[in-house]
Amino acid sequence: MAALVVRGVRDMLKRADFATVPRRQRHKKKWASTEPKFPATRLALQNFDMTYSVQFGDLWPSIRVSLLSEQKYGALVNNFAAGDRVSAELEQLKARDFVNEAVFHREPEPENSQTAAPSPASWACSPNLRCFTFTRGDVSRFPPARLGSLGLMDYYLMDAASLLPVLALGLQPGDTVLDLCAAPGGKTLALLQTGCCRNLAANDLSTSRTSRLQRVLHSYVPQDVRDKNRVRVTSWDGRKWGELEGDTYDRVLVDVPCTTDRHSLHEEENSIFQRSRKKERQMLPVLQVQLLAAGLLATKPGGHIVYSTCSLSHLQNEYVVQGAIELLDNQYSIKVQVFFAVVVPGPRLSSGASSLANPKSLRAILPASQALTSHSVCLEQYYIM
Ligand SMILES: C[S@@+](CC[C@H](N)C(=O)[O-])C[C@H]1O[C@@H](n2cnc3c(N)ncnc32)[C@H](O)[C@@H]1O
Repeated sequence: MAALVVRGVRDMLKRADFATVPRRQRHKKKWASTEPKFPATRLALQNFDMTYSVQFGDLWPSIRVSLLSEQKYGALVNNFAAGDRVSAELEQLKARDFVNEAVFHREPEPENSQTAAPSPASWACSPNLRCFTFTRGDVSRFPPARLGSLGLMDYYLMDAASLLPVLALGLQPGDTVLDLCAAPGGKTLALLQTGCCRNLAANDLSTSRTSRLQRVLHSYVPQDVRDKNRVRVTSWDGRKWGELEGDTYDRVLVDVPCTTDRHSLHEEENSIFQRSRKKERQMLPVLQVQLLAAGLLATKPGGHIVYSTCSLSHLQNEYVVQGAIELLDNQYSIKVQVFFAVVVPGPRLSSGASSLANPKSLRAILPASQALTSHSVCLEQYYIM
């Protein structure tokens, strides 16, 4: 009797499973093909464990924890949308403006410091930037940005460390600025928030990403500032920029495509560690040198350029900078002076992902060894998480 009931139930289940599915469409689930055997996130971690344990030695375990922790956002205040009111509201949430804190709590540079400094200029021009983060240990999240009375969004959520390259660029009022790899546009928006750009060229090879950049600009920046004479958005190959507009810009930001270490440990989608993108990943340093060289060529003699990545890899940082400097010297007789990083973000950044943005990891790598000549540009290099 029991056997009969079991058979009856099995028959019912079979019918329920297949009754509505035509025979030709029935198939067995193939787990192997649906679930990747080695998820890209795992491949990324394996790769970092191999390379960074050598590169960082004893520091790697704590850096690893930091990379694997949840990302901590900063709220970049939109000065075009009643910035003071927005700041007051963010203060009520008990968030703090780390830019101002860093400016006012900056330790004096030691005498004889080798850190040749664009710093006073950098910070002098940065007060217009306001970026709020929650204090160390506070894992609160910001509410989504809202549309203000002027029809513009009140703040932009971004990794707070992403602001550091913009601060380091040391914009001066009236500067002509190039953002060579600009999309989706967090740093472009920050550049505009300084109020220093006489005109800004924001470029990105990817047209879908420049569309996102355009949407960010529409949501945050008033039309008169977005005016074509002031903000120009293009989708060109940044590697060609030096030929197109050589010696043109006072300030250039080269925020290159990279292994986006933190993102690669958390997201499968679009991961550069997918097996199908192995070649692309291996070629990154070549692309990075080409982009940095193009940025250097586009910089006016005496101008400043910041090279930034979201990777800790020496191959994508120090070696790229060195490669580009050699290329400029050998092929164009252009000398590049490299500054040690002097930006010391306040203690507010020291948690979650941003804990890497402390002086240990945020530093320029090459000594300021190259002599300035009549045709030279200054390079400030950081690697930013
Ligand atoms: C790290 S993301 C830039 C992020 C951006 N600066 C921001 O703050 O939102 C690197 C960008 O480089 C772009 N890119 C890749 N190859 C490029 C090229 N040859 N020329 C210009 N942009 C390129 C990618 O489309 C990508 O949007």
